[in-house]
This record gives sequence, C-alpha cells and structure tokens, in this order.
Amino acid sequence: MATLSFLRSQFFVTPRIPTHDFSGQTIIITGGNRGLGFEAARHIVRLNAARVILAVRSVDSGHDAKRELEMSTGRQDVIEIYKLDMSSQESVQRFVAQMGALDRLDAVLLNAGMYTQDFVLKDNHESTLTVNVINTFLLGILLLPILRRSAQVFKSVACITIVASDRHVMNNLPEWRESNTFRVLNDPNKAAMSQRYYVSKLLQILLARAMARRLVPGDGRPVVVLNSLTPGYCSSGLLSNAYGLTAFGFWLLAKATARPPEVGARTLVAALSKGAESHGKYLNDGEIDETALSPFVRSKEGALAQEKLWEELIEILERSRPDIRLLLG
Ligand SMILES: NC(=O)c1ccc[n+]([C@@H]2O[C@H](COP(=O)([O-])OP(=O)(O)OC[C@H]3O[C@@H](n4cnc5c(N)ncnc54)[C@H](OP(=O)(O)O)[C@@H]3O)[C@@H](O)[C@H]2O)c1
Repeated sequence: MATLSFLRSQFFVTPRIPTHDFSGQTIIITGGNRGLGFEAARHIVRLNAARVILAVRSVDSGHDAKRELEMSTGRQDVIEIYKLDMSSQESVQRFVAQMGALDRLDAVLLNAGMYTQDFVLKDNHESTLTVNVINTFLLGILLLPILRRSAQVFKSVACITIVASDRHVMNNLPEWRESNTFRVLNDPNKAAMSQRYYVSKLLQILLARAMARRLVPGDGRPVVVLNSLTPGYCSSGLLSNAYGLTAFGFWLLAKATARPPEVGARTLVAALSKGAESHGKYLNDGEIDETALSPFVRSKEGALAQEKLWEELIEILERSRPDIRLLLG
C-alpha cells in the first residue's frame, strides 16, 4: 500500500500551490539555504510572513539564499539568518537562547537533514542519528516554551513540522527490541549504513507520534501542533554524498520520478498550515494520509516501538538538558 501510494504520488499527483496567508507570523526554517527548505521559504515569504528565520549551518550560504529570496519575492526585511549546526547540541542550545528574544514564534519547520553511507560520530552518536533525529527533537522540544508563550499572547495555535520521508517504509527497525536501540545503532561494527537514512526517517515518524501524544493537555486541544510529512522524491542536494551503485540507483529514480524542489516544498508549507486536525499525523502530497505510513508504523508493534524509543531519546537528551521532560509540559 505504502509503495503504491509512493508511485501514485510521484507519477500522478502534483501538490497544490500553497495559498495560506501567513500574515504577521514568524517562522523558523532549519536548512533553509537550499533544496526544499529554501523553496518552502520562498513560498512562505511570498505568502506574507512577517519574519522568516533561516537557521543555517553556513551563514554565508544563508545570506546568498536571503538575497535570492528577496529578489524573487520582492519582499525586503523579512528574512533573517542565524547560525545553526544540527550536528552539535551546543549549537542547537545557542540558537534556542537567541530565539528566546523573539516576541512571536508561530511555527518551526524542522527540515535540515542529511544522507551519508559513511559511519561518522557527531555528538557521540552516528551522524545521521545526531542530525536527523536527536538534535532535531532537541531543537523542537527546546523551542516549545517560546511557541507556547507566543500562542498564548497571539491567541493562535503554533506548529512544529518535521520533514520525514516516504522512504521510512524501507526499514522496520528490528533493533527496536534491543534493550538499548540507540546503542546498537551507534555500533560501527553493526551499523548497516545503506539503511541508515531510512532508519532515521522512520525514527522521526515514530518519535513525532510519541511526542505529539505528550503535547495534548487535559482538554484535548494542542497549543502546539506537531506533524510530520513526506515531500515525495525530489531533486535536491540531499543524495550528493551517495556513491557506488546506490548513487546510480538514486540517479535513475530521480530521472524517472523526481519532483522539482519547488513542487516538493509545497507539501512542507501545506503541513505548516494544516492546524489542529494534523496533530500527530503524517501528511503525503500535502494532505493528512496515514495510509501512506508503513504497516509497521501503524501496527501494535510500531506503537510499542515508538514509546520505547521515545524513552531512550529523552534519556539521551536529559544528559545535556536535565529539564527536558518539564519542557514537554
Ligand atoms: N529530496 C528528497 O527527495 C527528500 C525526500 C524526502 C525527505 N526529504 C527531506 O527533506 C529535507 C530537506 O532535504 P533536501 O532534499 O532539501 O536536501 P538538501 O538540498 O541536501 O538540503 C538539506 C539542508 O539541510 C541542511 N543541513 C544538513 N546538515 C545540517 C547540519 N548539520 N546543520 C544544519 N543544517 C544542515 C543543509 O545545509 P548545508 O547547505 O549547509 O549542507 C541544507 O540546507 C531533509 O530532511 C530530507 O531528509 C527529502
């Protein structure tokens, strides 16, 4: 079903051009200097956002992106560039401290992500796990108090959107049953790096579902909506580190099916504007579509895995932020 859904999306569906009005809003986009994040920024600036913060690893590249966005949208003084390296908890914490000065924060697009076939440690974990999973959730959780405060003051619903992938279907993470899954995934002798990106995207979806459960207060209406999505397969720089037969396979797939990044980015903007009905949900082609999730994610086993992995994630985050559970509210 999930594979059919992928093929249908790639060959027959063109996500709608976003029309949501972001007037007055402040939105953070991680990795907004190129690829899907950059094109999402272009839509959001065009759709009247008051302030768009591009959180980027290279400030120079961020300023190049800012110039191009200002030129193509004709809007000045909207985009701001901040340094953020998602492979470093220290950088994430420094960035969040800067965001504490914002008077308003409506949404965070957790888009920055990486693909590699090489095992490298960053922040004591394999780098794909660090960037795509651990620090992505660290950033989302640390921004919660700012999002909540803003939602209260402006009587709005804030949003965190995680850019996951339909490729999560490629792996069912049998390691979830190990007593410590992250420790197993961090073992260079056991790591199947050809699967690692898919594992990271599966983890994003499972952990987003687990986190969403914790953001619903007693009265059942989330103040901060959390959703995840797939943009479909899009041409971008994501797979530029791939090599060998894998790179050839990706190249062929891109030739046959890839969406231009602008088209894929429409789904990111759709998720940001979906509101409370999308809380804890997964979007495909810009619409809520849980049938596009893998059978594993939707199974009882998947539900057990998400809770077990959530506890592991929180224990990892508690090492640098002992207050992390309190921030979840
Ligand atoms: N393209 C697809 O087909 C596809 C499909 C499904 C999901 N996605 C997801 O979409 C998101 C965006 O990917 P893309 O396709 O636009 O790829 P991309 O062109 O490679 O862009 C990735 C972005 O993430 C940033 N990034 C990577 N590592 C970072 C780090 N350590 N700290 C801060 N920023 C970092 C990159 O910054 P630099 O410029 O500094 O490297 C870049 O801005 C990713 O999460 C990806 O997994 C993509």
